[in-house]
Amino acid sequence: MIENYFPVPLKRIVVDSVPNFDLYMKQKERYVLYRNANIKFEKSNLDNLMGNNIVSLYVSKKDIKQYEEYRQKMRAGQEEEAKKQGYTGIFVDPEEIERYHDIRANFHLIECKIFEPGLEIDFPVYYHKDNDVQLCADFESKPEGPWVLTDKFLKVNGLPLMIRNEDIEKYRAYLANLLASFSKVWRDDSVRVQREAIALREMSKMVVKDVLDDPRSGEKIKQVNVSVHSLIGFILDNEASFYSLMRISSHDYYTYVHSINVCTFCVGLGSALGLPEYPHIEMLGLGAMLHDVGKSQIDSQLINKPGKLTDEEFKRMKDHVAQGVDILKKHHNLPEQALEPVAQHHEKITGTGYPNGLKGDQIGLFGRISSIADIYDALTTERSYKRALTPFEALSFLNKTSADYDRQCLTQFIMTLGKQIRDAK
Ligand SMILES: [Fe+2]
Ligand SMILES: [Fe+2]
Repeated sequence: MIENYFPVPLKRIVVDSVPNFDLYMKQKERYVLYRNANIKFEKSNLDNLMGNNIVSLYVSKKDIKQYEEYRQKMRAGQEEEAKKQGYTGIFVDPEEIERYHDIRANFHLIECKIFEPGLEIDFPVYYHKDNDVQLCADFESKPEGPWVLTDKFLKVNGLPLMIRNEDIEKYRAYLANLLASFSKVWRDDSVRVQREAIALREMSKMVVKDVLDDPRSGEKIKQVNVSVHSLIGFILDNEASFYSLMRISSHDYYTYVHSINVCTFCVGLGSALGLPEYPHIEMLGLGAMLHDVGKSQIDSQLINKPGKLTDEEFKRMKDHVAQGVDILKKHHNLPEQALEPVAQHHEKITGTGYPNGLKGDQIGLFGRISSIADIYDALTTERSYKRALTPFEALSFLNKTSADYDRQCLTQFIMTLGKQIRDAK
């Protein structure tokens, strides 16, 4: 039988638009008129349909021309809107957005500097380009590992590298081996320091990812503690200091990467402020590593939305603070001090932050430190809809909005980081 209707996924019907063709629903092999042409498609219509698990509507084939015109108009409108918000073009199409989320859900971002030609690995590595993931050339010739890395492999022009989530354990074993192989004899070797920094970071990223997947597990929190301890040890041991943990290719936003960065900046700043290692820096680092754990309770499509959040979405997003505190309070052996970065990293000295609009002295030292680390990392991270600021631009921005931050902490942060950025050049 020739069908006289074609399906249109709901995501193709734009909320607040006025489709100039009739829309049908399929009920028991029959097509029933859902709404007439030229009536505004409201958000409540979409919610209703989704609530009833309807993913597609149908359009009569005689209206195909109107439908195509509508799609073209919508696409142009979305592009216009996207441009206004600073989106890149590839994320306008709903299917592209879905693909974007799929990649984030199924792949884990890794650091290419962890590899060298001649090394043998037993997991395939992919590169991420233009909202797509492709197998690196070294892995194409053989369906099964192990694979020996060639020079060519490392020449992926600085594109972000990824592994499949199911290979994370193999990657963890690879890193553990690598870390164990660093000899104390090479103590002053700057290449070794750099590689150790990368390996530590890569290990910590997986630990944070585990916690975000299962934030109620006491075992996972314990592993965060171990990770923080290693990072602190590294920062305090190496004169090259914390920025060597940060000199890593820039990339899109991932909560687990952001958490490691915020922890690193907090430990670096805490140490520059002269805080004692134990228990202060340990507590600060632990809280910083867990500061966004509440995001585990928020829909990942919202967390990773490739565009600006609506007011409603932003309100929902702000809940991550209270949710993070709630989750961590249930871990009874977690010291109270470690909760401060979680509870206060979005508060501002001027009282304009959230969730409690705390002012001045109401914000504790760990809250003050973590709010600077958090905003600095957010500014210097690329999002699909905005470019990353350079470290210099980000520090200038912080300087301009300095009233929001603790003056002593911010001055120390700008001095320490500014020096390390200059030294790293
Ligand atoms: Fe946050
Ligand atoms: Fe954050």
